[in-house]
Amino acid sequence: VSLKSYNTLGFEARAQALAEADSLLSLRRILVTGRRQFDRIIPLGGGSNVVMKPRIDGLVVRYMGQRIWQVPVNVHEALWHVEAGVNWHALVEKTTAAGWWGIENLALIPGSTGAAPIQNIGAYGVEMADVIDSVHVMHLADGRYEILDRAQCDFGYRHSIFKTAMAGQVIVVRVVLRLGLEVKPRVGYGDLARRLPENPGPSDVATAVAAIRQEKLPDPRLLGNAGSFFKNPVVSSDQATSLIARWPDMPFWQTGQGIKLAAGWLIDQCGWKGYCHKSVGVHQQQALVLVHHGEGSVHDLLDMAGRIQHSVEARFGVTLEMEPGVIGA
Ligand code: EPU
Repeated sequence: VSLKSYNTLGFEARAQALAEADSLLSLRRILVTGRRQFDRIIPLGGGSNVVMKPRIDGLVVRYMGQRIWQVPVNVHEALWHVEAGVNWHALVEKTTAAGWWGIENLALIPGSTGAAPIQNIGAYGVEMADVIDSVHVMHLADGRYEILDRAQCDFGYRHSIFKTAMAGQVIVVRVVLRLGLEVKPRVGYGDLARRLPENPGPSDVATAVAAIRQEKLPDPRLLGNAGSFFKNPVVSSDQATSLIARWPDMPFWQTGQGIKLAAGWLIDQCGWKGYCHKSVGVHQQQALVLVHHGEGSVHDLLDMAGRIQHSVEARFGVTLEMEPGVIGA
């Protein structure tokens, strides 16, 4: 079965089989029978943060559950239970329109709610981990249901336990978010504050974030891409000091783990912005986003990514780590 329309980079990829479950019961049945028929079971969400190789051996499984419900915690807080199949941006529109704060800065991020905790989606100063109460998963091996609280998820910058100890073992079926009604705008990133009316509500913030994203990031429906292709590298303060001495314009942020640099700036400095060869290239407005113009090959994209990593390493001595996950042989 072709997965071309199931990855936003838009590469042709063929899996042995694809199964979509819309209830927990049918998901468990698919996992239990799939286990016997296929060597591997591969969970997939919206396909917006994956690089698919042409051949995918195994059964690709999607959990499509769409239910959303609220459980009040107190007068101004509630736990929002959201099934994994809900489109992330549709959820942001729903919660912000109803006046709830928490995920407004994460507007217009493509993909499903279930995939969001895997890479701990983050933008404009907010990470999903900030509002996660728990993540509900089903084990691929035996259909066992497990609830992980926030600490167990081991969240970090573009990181969670679902990328390490639990990688390839579970499928997310539900995410529980703690959202609030108390006014709590977080608008310190870039020029976000300048774009807002006085006393903004959560939907004003979401609208402003969506406008900024539309200016810089390509719409995957029009131009194949998987968002940022590399993580922003975190370096020691010694290394940062010598880099900044040499390149005074270099953007950087202090974080708990060290100094974070802007991978897009590093790639841009190496002259890659707007590059295009054999249908794959580097986005004109944002050098951190690799794009596929159609009919290209994933091999050429990964080859270009390797050359980008080499040139950044050679010029700055900084290693760029790929951000999306790779699926297939
Ligand atoms: N920059 C350049 N040239 C470029 C791109 C960026 O000089 O081609 C500079 C910008 O001028 C700015 C700095 O680099 O000073 C950072 O750029 P930007 O604010 O656009 O954000 P980013 O660090 O490139 C990160 C996330 C994005 C997220 C934005 C906003 C990562 C890997 N990416 O990008 O997330 O939307 O911040 O918070 O952390 C994604 O993960 O797919 C994604 C889009």
